[in-house]
Amino acid sequence: MKKTRIVALVLMLVLCVGIFAACGSKPGKGLDTVEDGVLVMATNAEFPPYEFIENNEVVGIDAEIAAAIAEKLGLTLKIENMEFDSIISSVKGGKADVGVAGMTVTDERLEEVAFSTTYATGVQVVIVTEDSPITAVDDLFAEGANHTIGVQLATTGDLYSTWDIEDEGLGTVDRYAKGADAVMALKNGKVDCVVIDNEPAKAFVAENEGLKILDTEYAVEDYAIAMNKDKAELNAAIDTALQELIKDGTVQAILDKYIG
Ligand code: ARG
Repeated sequence: MKKTRIVALVLMLVLCVGIFAACGSKPGKGLDTVEDGVLVMATNAEFPPYEFIENNEVVGIDAEIAAAIAEKLGLTLKIENMEFDSIISSVKGGKADVGVAGMTVTDERLEEVAFSTTYATGVQVVIVTEDSPITAVDDLFAEGANHTIGVQLATTGDLYSTWDIEDEGLGTVDRYAKGADAVMALKNGKVDCVVIDNEPAKAFVAENEGLKILDTEYAVEDYAIAMNKDKAELNAAIDTALQELIKDGTVQAILDKYIG
């Protein structure tokens, strides 16, 4: 009688431990996400081929990478499309788990958010009209230069142009909500050039006649996922998933799918 009781007790203990272990190892469970079982991604779908709208849905490189990370973690991906300027505050303010938006790692942003391992390289380039007197990036910084530079608000193109050109008295920066709006302003003669990342630049130039990208590069940068600084455990899980996806070639395959 006593023996069977002990056996039953031991069995129950084993069962309990087993259930706990199963719960613990179940991906997605126990991850401190904004919404239970969901990975909320903040982005600005005005940035082809990283993120753009197709059939009312946000698609592109970042959407696919985030989906692959969510899957690895047993989470459902939810994408929130917003102004680029709002992504960092949304992550910092605990409204989104990740900001995935072809976002460049900068010292200023590192004060607000944590960044994952970098997953792609971006290059700031200059778009001009085919007949533009601007023929090299250095023309923008030349003594006596006085150009109007179009950028997407709060992007690194905005930051660099502001520091290098506007603050130096070498021209004016016109900030647009969307990169495509800055490109429209260039077509309409309202700005002299647009400083923007190379991949969207290629997409915009392909869509609009009479524009070209200068051969010289303005700046080379790293893209990474922005995360909330207070969520070390979740961030580690996201970063490990991303590193695995880089290692096994998934990220490269996604990049190749969109970038020839
Ligand atoms: N790489 C640039 C930056 O981090 C531009 C990113 C713009 N991304 C977007 N989804 N609109 O500032």
